[in-house]
Amino acid sequence: MPTTFAVTVQPAQRMRGRVRPPGDKSISHRYAMLAAIADGPSMIHGYSTGADCASTLTCLRALGVPIEQLKRDRATGIQLDILGLQVGGLQPPSTTLDAGNSGSTMRMLSGILAAHPFRATITGDSSLRRRPMRRIIVPLERMGARVSADDGRPPLTIVGTDRLKAIDFQPDVPSAQVKSAVLFAGLHADGMTRVVEPISTRDHTERALEAFGAQIGRAGTSVAIRGGQRLIGGTFHVPGDISSAAFWMVAAAALPGSDVTIEHVGLNPSRTGILAILQRMGAQIKTAVAHAQAGEPIGTIHVRHADLQPATIAPEDVPGVIDELPVLAALATHGGELSVSGAQELRVKESDRISALADGLRLMGGDIDEQPDGFHVRGRNRLRGGEVDAKNDHRLAMAFAIAALGATGPTVIHDAGAAGVSYPEFFTVLESLRA
Ligand code: S3P
Repeated sequence: MPTTFAVTVQPAQRMRGRVRPPGDKSISHRYAMLAAIADGPSMIHGYSTGADCASTLTCLRALGVPIEQLKRDRATGIQLDILGLQVGGLQPPSTTLDAGNSGSTMRMLSGILAAHPFRATITGDSSLRRRPMRRIIVPLERMGARVSADDGRPPLTIVGTDRLKAIDFQPDVPSAQVKSAVLFAGLHADGMTRVVEPISTRDHTERALEAFGAQIGRAGTSVAIRGGQRLIGGTFHVPGDISSAAFWMVAAAALPGSDVTIEHVGLNPSRTGILAILQRMGAQIKTAVAHAQAGEPIGTIHVRHADLQPATIAPEDVPGVIDELPVLAALATHGGELSVSGAQELRVKESDRISALADGLRLMGGDIDEQPDGFHVRGRNRLRGGEVDAKNDHRLAMAFAIAALGATGPTVIHDAGAAGVSYPEFFTVLESLRA
């Protein structure tokens, strides 16, 4: 669990330097879960150092999966050796599974637990216990599992079955976690399971399943998987997390004279929405794909400051930048303007990210209107700094820090330790990039 502490962030002139972000959180979860149900051992390099991905390992260990951490290194992340128990081979846990702060762990792992003929309870911290789970309960029950919850919220008790039925499923909300839960269950089901999304979401699950040897059918916003396929363990390298890199990209875009290069970062097109938005907001961006690992493109991103332009993010853009919206709001406070709609999902993230973001930016002197499904930030006046609360939300802790760089005075961020959920090294890297 990340520790709770406050951090004071001083204004900065400019940011310069090179950064290798931590291993991608989304991809780390998926590789660990798929390695756990693959045939034979898998070696995972560059696994995320964040607490969320550690929660996935804790849960998998409680389900009998042998996992050894071979190395932990600030530059290259965690190296893991995971011995797969084969599809359907997880063991009944003797304790309640603890997903910590991690919605991805709870939702995606539930898809796998639904296919195992035992009872398992999965819970999490106070933030996770407030998050909506009906979106996975409904399809997993249609497939034949029994899932009980507290008015649709965790803890979840799942009574799985080794006779899951394939379904055709159309989620109401675009969510990669929901899609993944259903595809993971579908891998174990009898027949062809199909998910048709209202708007396409990140496709790491599809690419990871293929990298582990499964066949996937894809057409438009639909993905299908035939049950009964086996997965093959192997060696996997996790690219750097573009959602963590986004903080440095925004800092460079915000501060005149900045020049930052992000190395070894994932450039999967379902995650690079942030690049297009930053360009619309005026930043100078160059990217280069160097190679691909397990179907995931990896390369460099180079960002330089230019004058900020007003921008709008429309509902169809939202799934592509869902995790970057708080830091894009922070960018607008540096003299830009940003209007976002169709982002009601932000209200059910690690915090109510619309109201907590608006509260924090206002406390720093920001001009922000809140709407049910978005916000509007006007950056005409410089922030003054002040005291804000990250409300147990890693992305808010880091977004407030990036906003604070442009303020006239210091900003105290309470609960800044929440950053450890995805980026424990964040505040150290921040200091190293001040030029
Ligand atoms: C994630 C999907 C998104 C994202 C989250 C990670 C994933 O959530 O916000 O940080 O790894 O699939 P939703 O599926 O709830 O949109």
